[in-house]
Amino acid sequence: MADAIALVIILIVLITHAYATFIAAPWTPIKKSDINRLIGLAEIKDSDIVYDLGAGDGRIVLEIAKQFPTTRVVGFEISITLFLVAVARLRLAGVRNARILFKNFYKQNLAEANVVTIFLMPFAMKKLERQFKSQLKPGTRILSYCFPLPESQGETDKPTKNDRAIYKYVVR
Ligand SMILES: C[S@@+](CC[C@H](N)C(=O)[O-])C[C@H]1O[C@@H](n2cnc3c(N)ncnc32)[C@H](O)[C@@H]1O
Repeated sequence: MADAIALVIILIVLITHAYATFIAAPWTPIKKSDINRLIGLAEIKDSDIVYDLGAGDGRIVLEIAKQFPTTRVVGFEISITLFLVAVARLRLAGVRNARILFKNFYKQNLAEANVVTIFLMPFAMKKLERQFKSQLKPGTRILSYCFPLPESQGETDKPTKNDRAIYKYVVR
C-alpha cells in the first residue's frame, strides 16, 4: 500500500512538472542578482497587485512581498513540487501580503493585476500576448525575463552584453 501511494505521488510530481514544461516553460529560475533589476523596472507602487505567472520556487513573489509590504503579490504555479516549495518559502519568511496559487495562468482572469512578471519560453508568449490584450487594463506593466512578447512594442533593459535582457511593456 505504501509503495502504491509513493508511486502515485511520484507520478503526480512528474506529470505536473512535465505538463508545465510542455505548455509554457520548465523550471529555470531567474538569476538572484536580476530580481532587483526586474523589480526596479516594474516601478511597483504600494497599491499595486503583482502577478508572477509561473512562480517557480517563489523567489520573485517573495522578494517583491518583502520589499513592498502593502502590495498584494500573487504567484501562479502548476508544478506541484514547486508550488509546495514556494508556499513553504512564503510561510517561513512570514510574509502576509503574498500567496501562491496552484493554478494554470492561462485559465485565470488577469484583469486585477497592475504588474505582471513572466519568464516563459517563446512558444508560450504568443498565446499569453493574446490573453494580455484581452484582459489587462491600460497602465499595467509587463516584465518579461529573457524573451520578448512577439508583437508588442516595449523597452529592453540589458545593462551589459553579459546580462540577460528584461523586456518591459506598458499596456495602452
Ligand atoms: C522559467 S520558470 C520561472 C520561475 C520564476 N518565475 C522565476 O523567474 O524564477 C517557469 C515556471 O512556470 C511554471 N509554469 C509553466 N506553465 C504554467 C502554467 N500554465 N501555469 C502556472 N505555472 C506554469 C513552471 O512550472 C515553471 O516553474
